[in-house]
Amino acid sequence: MRYGHFDDTRREYVITRPDTPLPWINYLGTDAFFGIISNTAGGYSCYRDARLRRITRYRYNSVPPDSGGRYVYLRDNGSGQYWSPSWQPTQRKLDHYECRHGLSYTQIASAYLGVRAETLYFVPLDETLEIWRLRVSNERDTPADISVFSSVEFCLWDAQDDATNFQRNYSTGEVEVAGGVIYHKTEYRERRDHVAYFACSEPLAGFDTQRAAFLGAYRGWDRPAAVERGESFNSIAHGWSPHGSHHVRLSLAPGETREVVFLLGYWENPRDQKFDPPGSGVINKALVRPVIDRWLQPATVAEGFDRLRESWTSLLSTLRVDTPDGDANRMANIWNPYQCVVTFEMSRSVSLFESGIGRGMGFRDSNQDLLGFVHMAPGRSRARILDLASTQLATGGAYHQFQPLTKRGNNDIGSGFNDDPLWLVLGVAAYLKETGDASILDEPVPYDNAEDSATALYVHLERSLRYTLDRLGPHGLPLIGRADWNDCLNLNCFSDTPGESFQTTVNKDGGGAESVFIAGLFILAAKDLAEIAERRGLAGDASSYRAAAEKMAGSIVEHAWDGAWFRRAYDYFGNAVGSSENAEGQIFVEPQGICVMSGIGVQNGMATRALDSVREHLATAHGIVLLRPAYTRYHVELGEISSYPPGYKENAGVFCHTNPWVMIAEAMVGRGDAAFDYYKRINPSAREEIAEIHRCEPYVYAQMIAGKEAPTHGEAKNSWLTGTAAWNLVAITQWILGIRAEFDGLRIDPVLPAEWPGFTATRRFRDATYEISVRNPAGVSGRVGHLLVGGESIAGTLVPLAPPGATVNVEAVIR
Ligand code: GLC
Ligand code: GLC
Repeated sequence: MRYGHFDDTRREYVITRPDTPLPWINYLGTDAFFGIISNTAGGYSCYRDARLRRITRYRYNSVPPDSGGRYVYLRDNGSGQYWSPSWQPTQRKLDHYECRHGLSYTQIASAYLGVRAETLYFVPLDETLEIWRLRVSNERDTPADISVFSSVEFCLWDAQDDATNFQRNYSTGEVEVAGGVIYHKTEYRERRDHVAYFACSEPLAGFDTQRAAFLGAYRGWDRPAAVERGESFNSIAHGWSPHGSHHVRLSLAPGETREVVFLLGYWENPRDQKFDPPGSGVINKALVRPVIDRWLQPATVAEGFDRLRESWTSLLSTLRVDTPDGDANRMANIWNPYQCVVTFEMSRSVSLFESGIGRGMGFRDSNQDLLGFVHMAPGRSRARILDLASTQLATGGAYHQFQPLTKRGNNDIGSGFNDDPLWLVLGVAAYLKETGDASILDEPVPYDNAEDSATALYVHLERSLRYTLDRLGPHGLPLIGRADWNDCLNLNCFSDTPGESFQTTVNKDGGGAESVFIAGLFILAAKDLAEIAERRGLAGDASSYRAAAEKMAGSIVEHAWDGAWFRRAYDYFGNAVGSSENAEGQIFVEPQGICVMSGIGVQNGMATRALDSVREHLATAHGIVLLRPAYTRYHVELGEISSYPPGYKENAGVFCHTNPWVMIAEAMVGRGDAAFDYYKRINPSAREEIAEIHRCEPYVYAQMIAGKEAPTHGEAKNSWLTGTAAWNLVAITQWILGIRAEFDGLRIDPVLPAEWPGFTATRRFRDATYEISVRNPAGVSGRVGHLLVGGESIAGTLVPLAPPGATVNVEAVIR
């Protein structure tokens, strides 16, 4: 069953009924001002940091769900009937409803009582404001007298404090209303230099700024008193809950359409120019007012929207593919790169599953997000790499997370996740392969942001590897620390205290718990750093990294091969985890993916054996589960993984992030059918038909789909902010289609499903454009047998770098 459809030409997902199984959201903003918006206009906005600069209030886990948002109410003044053109919050049954989620914008259109309304929401590039462009049309054959009410609930900036510190917050709220603009200025009198504003392009019939006045006592968003009576109260908030609502009256002739623009913005004044007159406590509006006036103009809005759309066209033109599979095309060309941009910007902070309070930017997460983003925006990737590396510790370890506003490591979570530093090597390598910009390696970068601690970025990478090598366990495998990629495999934690965080609790001393996953990751990182070192003329370094990689591979083969698959870890006591010796959790997916990706056993059959085991034990119709059998009871020696009910999350859910590793591994061993089969199973577009089972958005990946042992097998959760986005884009474009940026050129090494006759693609790479066409005349899942570059046959599969501005034709034939 479906709740809408894709409009590929407009790059939109069109939702045709408002009661989707879960709110289906989209993101507004691409730089500093961000928000989420659901298909019924729920959601909130923030400036840079969802915890510290929350602009509007949102109640997670509320009843009814997804209440609170960017609401418009319409009232037919003739009959007194009122409704929400976005369905929520009044839930009046609309005669027509359509929500179009596009790239960084959402448009919700509906009709009721012969009145059509269409609201476009977006954040213009380079501005710290969001626009709601409302168009109201009278489709009756008589005049219509319509009242429009807008509504936002302001957050008192710090979202955590806002949701808890009521003894203070009920008294601090302050607003100003001037020139038709509502300003939210809580704490502006003291240490804050920023305000939020809510403006409207039309003359106001009234306004409200106190939530209780607008709604009326004991009422919810579904029947605000002001809307019901058709008149605002002109309330001024003194404490309690500052709110913004404009009231505009429109007299519409039959067939007439009117446009009303609302702006919700964030503004910072220089500290010495905060007040007008100075010292008065009144906001100085001289700087913000021109911005407001400009964006209230319909022409500016239209232009701003065009610019936004063009920027997406340009971003997505870096890589375009045309394959025989519609779901793959749609995801690879539109939604998957879009999700990659969103995850790059938001990390794991703002979604319907991430409250914007708990988590900043993850060190490992951001480095992986980069893998799906760097080809589109190398400049922003460079800046992110330097920010990330600045939070690395002098030991080579890393803060697990950092706050985007301060760019400092987050002490609440701390460090000790032993995989973290290695991801930096992969992130930097991806940047270098994409750009060839070796200058980044010489950038001075501090440790833990400490003054005078800077070394060249290259040294950070060396210390990342060193960090692993300095921490090897009894089998010569890396010590796991608090956890590796799998945050929930907490082998040293031994927590038996209710509510204690598995990730931050004091670990038990003396443990030698080792991670096979980190071992595989280390090999990938060491090989990358060897190539980097070689290109810096450091042949000695390069060979020592290669030797270290080889030694690690030896330890894996010797101590981590279980007979039919790779083991996952050794626990605190030296017992194998993810082995046929175990009663539960016999086989894990992560080591099968990463060990094969690192090259182990590709030549001698070990790799295919491990991948066959994945198919036999872990593959389901809804994707590959993380482990089997699920843990049915709590294992104190394993930690959080066994705290989840069987089939959910890390405890044998389909943890989608790991699936592309298996796709890549299958491609590496030349099995294109298997690789693409796995790709299809979790491709959200390919799951659109089973929306009532999948339940999350059909246009983006979710972190998890409930596994086989879960009662709700097939149900997705935690959509949007997941490393699944970057890795799936990597898997389909770089390994199945085989178009890979490398240090010295563009690799064309597809491993296709046998039945594909071929595909074409366009890739912009280092200022040249590659027009790629791959044919598979024999109908095999083979490898490139013949490669023509600009009509000339070349040996191997690496297309050499073309001069800037060139367009290069690349033709490959599979054999
Ligand atoms: C979440 C985390 C990520 C972790 C994964 C597995 O996606 O953001 O850092 O690797 O879960 O636990
Ligand atoms: C990761 C995991 C999640 C775990 C969390 C702890 O996000 O996916 O299961 O609870 O880390 O921070």
